Amino acid sequence: MPPYQINPLPPRLIVLIGFMGAGKSTVGPLLAARLGWRFLDVDAHLEARTGSTIAELFAARGEAGFRRIEAEALAHLWNERELVLALGGGAIESELTRALLEQSRDVCVVFLRAPFPVLVERCENQPGARSRPLLQERQTLHSRFQSRLRHYENAHIAVDTDGLRPQAVADLILSRLPESALALPKAQGARNI
Ligand code: S3P
Repeated sequence: MPPYQINPLPPRLIVLIGFMGAGKSTVGPLLAARLGWRFLDVDAHLEARTGSTIAELFAARGEAGFRRIEAEALAHLWNERELVLALGGGAIESELTRALLEQSRDVCVVFLRAPFPVLVERCENQPGARSRPLLQERQTLHSRFQSRLRHYENAHIAVDTDGLRPQAVADLILSRLPESALALPKAQGARNI
């Protein structure tokens, strides 16, 4: 699949993608604050909507069931404006979600990239590490990462996050957004993608 086309329209949504530990939920609010937009973490949204944790949803519905709920939730959010969305790391496994990301011409998809060992280490250092269903599946984790990479790499913007603080990552994204996306003072202006 070729990379997503550069969008001709100012983005109304910025969608952060990347593997677990990429920093989507940390960088997202910083980016949203700089833009004066709202931020939503799709996992947190699902937990609030269903009253169950992600681990409980995995246990009750299986991974395929979880992916369906995740894709449906995203489809419902898709017409929002001035929103930064953090997708779960596996959301791009859903064909429906990939189609949304590919076809929307006023959405900017940003991949937060980091090497696999860095991602695993970041996850292990988080308080919720034990409740991450897929982090426990060590034998398949790396192959999952590999098979997802080609989807992540289709994003409009890819940012290498290793060694960077979250604010620096947010600033890098801002500097690479199309000028038209920014409701920021000129001094912080952006280059084209
Ligand atoms: C998953 C990533 C998690 C969460 C669930 C499954 C995955 O989200 O959706 O545990 O398949 O990679 P984060 O990437 O926000 O941690």
